[in-house]
Amino acid sequence: MQNNMQNKPMNIILTGATGTLGSKVLHTLFETKFNEINTVYLLVRKKGQMSPNERVINMLESEFAPEFIQKKRKDVLAKIKVIDATAILNPELYLTKGELCYFIHSAGYVNLSVDEVNKEEIFKENYHFTKSIFNTYEKFLKKFIYISTAFSIGDLGGLIGDDYIEIEGGAYRNFYEASKHASEKFLTEAGKEKNIPIQILRPSVLGGNAMDSPSFFISKYMVFYLFAKFFHNNASNDHIRITANKDSGLNIIPTDYAAKVIVSVFNTDVKQLNIVHSKATDVTSGISKILDTVGFNKYNITQDIVSKTIGFESKLEQYYYETIGVHLNPYLTSKPYEWDTSLLESILPIPKYDLEQYLENTVKFAKLKNFRNQKW
Ligand SMILES: NC(=O)c1ccc[n+]([C@@H]2O[C@H](COP(=O)([O-])OP(=O)(O)OC[C@H]3O[C@@H](n4cnc5c(N)ncnc54)[C@H](OP(=O)(O)O)[C@@H]3O)[C@@H](O)[C@H]2O)c1
Repeated sequence: MQNNMQNKPMNIILTGATGTLGSKVLHTLFETKFNEINTVYLLVRKKGQMSPNERVINMLESEFAPEFIQKKRKDVLAKIKVIDATAILNPELYLTKGELCYFIHSAGYVNLSVDEVNKEEIFKENYHFTKSIFNTYEKFLKKFIYISTAFSIGDLGGLIGDDYIEIEGGAYRNFYEASKHASEKFLTEAGKEKNIPIQILRPSVLGGNAMDSPSFFISKYMVFYLFAKFFHNNASNDHIRITANKDSGLNIIPTDYAAKVIVSVFNTDVKQLNIVHSKATDVTSGISKILDTVGFNKYNITQDIVSKTIGFESKLEQYYYETIGVHLNPYLTSKPYEWDTSLLESILPIPKYDLEQYLENTVKFAKLKNFRNQKW
C-alpha cells in the first residue's frame, strides 16, 4: 500500500460531516493528521434554525468529541471552512483556481425502502448527486473517495472480495444498494476517463464505538438499532414470528474503527476496500441478544415466510412486517456470506471483542439514550 501524500499540506473536502460516519471521520482526521492538514472544507446543510456553522460548532463542542478536539478546538476550527451545502455545485465560490483537494464523499441517503415510489428519490440522493458532484469538481480533484456500502454487491453469498466492479453481483435487496453500486461503477469509469484517482470504501452496518470513548457511542441509530427500537417501543402481549435465515449473519462494524480505516487509507493507492467485520454475528443469537437487551421475549425465529397472504398472528406481527420488517427482512433472509478481510486487516487490525457482548452493550447504550440521535 503506497502513501500518495507528498509533503505539501492537504486540502480535504468532506460531505456528510454531520452524519454518523462523517462526524467520526472529521474527528479522526484532526486527531491523526492535524499537522498534515491545511484546510478541511465541510459542505453542510442548515437544519431548522441551526446554520451550517452552528451545527459544526455544536459537533466540535459536544461532550462526545474526542479529547484532542476538545483540547485543540480553536486550532481545529482555524483549519475548517464550513460551506453552506447550497453551494455544493458551485466550488468556484470557495475554492481558488488550481486548488487540488481530496474529496471524501460521505453524504448519503441510507433508506432501505423496497417501495418503487421511493426509488427516484434514493437514486437522486445517492447516484445522481454523486455524479453531479464528481462532474462539477473535476478540475479540483486530487482524488475522489466514495463512501459506499459493503452491501452494494447485492445478495451474493459465499466469500466476497474487495472488487465489486469486475464481478457479477447478486440481486439488489433494495434501491439503496442499487444506487450505491451504480455510483461506484460511474465513478470507476469516469475516473479512468478523466485520469482522476478513485477510491471506494465500503463499511457494513455501523455500530457504536469499540475503540474510542465514550464506548459504544454512535450519533444516529439506524439499521439494527431500529430493530431494537421497534421492540423497545412496542412492548405488548402480542407474540411475533421473525423470519430469518439461520445460516446468515449480521455484520456490524464499529464506527470509530471504520473512521480510522478511512483516515488511514484515503491517501493511499488502495482502490476498493470493504470495511467490515471478519466475522458475522450469528443471526439467531444476534436477534435474541438484541431482543433480550430491550426486554422483549414474545417471539420465535422461523425459517418460514410470514406475510399478509399467509396471515398475521397478531397486530404487532402485522405492524412489524408492514414497517421495519419490509426493510430488514431482505437482510435477515440473505444467503450466507462472509467477507475476505485480508487487505483490511493489513491496514488496521479489527479490534478483538466478543461479538454478542458488543451487540448487547451497543444496544444498551442506545436504550440509555432513548435511541435519540445527536442534535447537531
Ligand atoms: N449507517 C450505516 O450503517 C452505513 C453503513 C454502510 C455505509 N454507509 C454509508 O456511509 C455514508 C455515511 O452514512 P451515515 O451513516 O453517516 O449517514 P447519516 O448519519 O444519515 O448521515 C448522512 C450525512 O449526509 C448528509 N447529506 C445527506 N444528503 C445530503 C445532501 N443532499 N446534501 C448535503 N448533505 C447531505 C447529511 O446531512 P444532514 O445532517 O443535513 O442530514 C449527513 O451529514 C453514506 O454514504 C452511507 O451510504 C452507512
